[in-house]
Amino acid sequence: MNVVVVEELTKIYHTGMKKGDIVALDRFSLTVEQGEIFGVLGPNGAGKTTLLKTLLGITQITSGAVFINGLPPSNPESRKKVGYLPENHRFPDHLTGLGLLEFTGRLCGLNQNDIDSRTSSLLEMVGMDKWANMKIKKYSKGMLQRIGLAQALIVNPEIIFLDEPTDGVDPVGKAEIKQMMKTIRDEGKTIILNSHLLSEVESVADRVAILSHGRLVKVGTVDEFTTRKSQYEIEADFGDRLIEIPEEIGKKISLSTNRLIVVLKEERNINYIIDQLRLKKINIHSVQPIKVSLEQSFMETLSQKEAETS
Ligand SMILES: Nc1ncnc2c1ncn2[C@@H]1O[C@H](COP(=O)(O)OP(=O)(O)OP(=O)(O)O)[C@@H](O)[C@H]1O
Ligand SMILES: [Mg+2]
Repeated sequence: MNVVVVEELTKIYHTGMKKGDIVALDRFSLTVEQGEIFGVLGPNGAGKTTLLKTLLGITQITSGAVFINGLPPSNPESRKKVGYLPENHRFPDHLTGLGLLEFTGRLCGLNQNDIDSRTSSLLEMVGMDKWANMKIKKYSKGMLQRIGLAQALIVNPEIIFLDEPTDGVDPVGKAEIKQMMKTIRDEGKTIILNSHLLSEVESVADRVAILSHGRLVKVGTVDEFTTRKSQYEIEADFGDRLIEIPEEIGKKISLSTNRLIVVLKEERNINYIIDQLRLKKINIHSVQPIKVSLEQSFMETLSQKEAETS
């Protein structure tokens, strides 16, 4: 089931300044399924935060449509089961962490019993129970993110929007937040995650979209981004045997006594290579598509896009 639907969304900020209008999102379409962690990636200014804000009704859309559980942002019911951790948030810093959660709970219409039970379990979950009675103004960046995550979860939301949740968090905290995201996902909830930390997104997200200049450049599973389907590494007992690959099939990148790397014109051409090895009675140990990091795939996708549009 698609819990978030974005159809041909355009968002233009009318700045009223000399620089003129800014097209933050340009005919952008996307769907997010229930129970997935969906990573939104893109350079600074690509439109990631604007996307979340339009879905939450914080900013008006210029054209197109967005829906949460089938409801448009103009319907407040669409936000009833939604949590949000904004980017660069500024919570009222005279409040304590506990005070912030209670305040958010009341804003969301929870009764005191629910607030009490939710706050204590959330404070423990985000590792902030020790600092619950300290004023937010004394919190470190990592503590702010942890309490921010807790306030995003106060209504036990079905869909959670996280804008750079691990910004400023130490490595142990990052790993803990990653684990929390997986636990939330495993409960069948949906997370939309804006992040610049590609290694983190790679290890936690199910699907990823890349935005650039307000446009959707590519969307797919993390595997689709990180697997080079037309490049294979073959481990086999080649010895000193030469392997020739016809031009129409692909080309050989490297060959050693036990390892061959090929780039194929088409994915299915791997069968031709395997047939040749079999004919030569070469013992095959493994045939695997080559993997790259999400970061490398991201850089390649963007530079390819730049080359196409220039
Ligand atoms: N309130 C606003 N008024 C005018 N322009 C805005 C406003 N908010 C965002 N923009 C512009 O819209 C574009 C998209 O911004 P947005 O914050 O959505 O990008 P982002 O992908 O979240 O970037 P970052 O990675 O830096 O967080 C940018 O050019 C930005 O300057
Ligand atoms: Mg942003």
